[in-house]
Amino acid sequence: MPSVLVTGGAGYVGSHACKALAAAGFTPITYDDLSTGHRDLVRWGPFEEGSVGDGERLSSVIARHRPVAVLHFAALSLVGESVRDPARYYRTNVASTLTLLEAMRRHHVEAMVFSSTCATYGLPDRVPITEDTPQRPINPYGWSKLMVERLMADHGSAYGLQWAALRYFNAAGADPDGETGEDHEPETHLIPRALLAAAGAMPAMDLFGADWPTPDGTCIRDYVHVDDLARWHVQALVHLLSGKGSLALNLGTGKGWSVRQVLAAVERVTGRPVPIRMAPRREGDPPVLVADPSRACALLGAEARITDMETIVETAWRFLKGRRVQPERKVM
Ligand code: UFG
Repeated sequence: MPSVLVTGGAGYVGSHACKALAAAGFTPITYDDLSTGHRDLVRWGPFEEGSVGDGERLSSVIARHRPVAVLHFAALSLVGESVRDPARYYRTNVASTLTLLEAMRRHHVEAMVFSSTCATYGLPDRVPITEDTPQRPINPYGWSKLMVERLMADHGSAYGLQWAALRYFNAAGADPDGETGEDHEPETHLIPRALLAAAGAMPAMDLFGADWPTPDGTCIRDYVHVDDLARWHVQALVHLLSGKGSLALNLGTGKGWSVRQVLAAVERVTGRPVPIRMAPRREGDPPVLVADPSRACALLGAEARITDMETIVETAWRFLKGRRVQPERKVM
């Protein structure tokens, strides 16, 4: 079976992608430094511990496993932290990717699928967001991802790299079989925080602003199920390997949910109220981010299978209950 190197394969989206790769007949080689990933979520192929910034280690792993491509997830991904410590974000997300691209060139690995983000669009003038929307990030995290898109495009023109920049909207939910899921420390994302608050693992969840220019005053996001995301990574990989050309695609459902709608779904699924503390708007939050998924649908057939918020929340709840919601483990 052909091998695929998966950086960050012990993380949230990366581990789901490993499962999808294995289901499609690839051997995922997880390369992860376990700074935020989890060893026990590496279940579908070999594990190689290492940092993407370590060119020697990368080279020896690539030489041994001879992957046909790389799926590159390993990155720092907290917007606020990137504002406070941009140098760390540019070092980890950008400089390390250059090291990875060099190792790939040395060993003639010519395809890369990259975990990009809707944060590269910043505050878009119009929604839904198409791929032609100007990319104007408003924080170092978004810039670091956009810079990697540029690195890939230039490596494509000059050295023939086949690349896919997959700009996710809000990755959400967990493996429907419960074998992997989202386990961040600290957890900043809405759905797991609301679930933890409903479970009593934290006293209350801050609701960042109810005075936004939206129908119920709370922010609207496009929550895309991680199982759909994972499958689309494999489809993008197959697209590149069959020589169909490089891609920049929005990965979303095209449907927006307000924070209050998500909280209502969490209450229905858990059967418990979500204790809320009203908080000011979080800096840098755009009011509405919704994808126009037409291009991904046309080029990859990337139709979302899970679009119902209760199903998204149910999968997240099942994983979280098994892993994080224990009386002795308080969160913040
Ligand atoms: N929210 C709350 N309370 C919380 C957590 C979130 O009210 O405790 C709100 C946020 O203000 C936002 C929505 O819930 O309106 C979703 O927030 P998340 O933190 O779950 O997700 P973001 O939309 O901020 O983040 C996502 C990706 C980032 C990416 C960003 C681009 O997770 O990687 O979109 O805007 F950078």
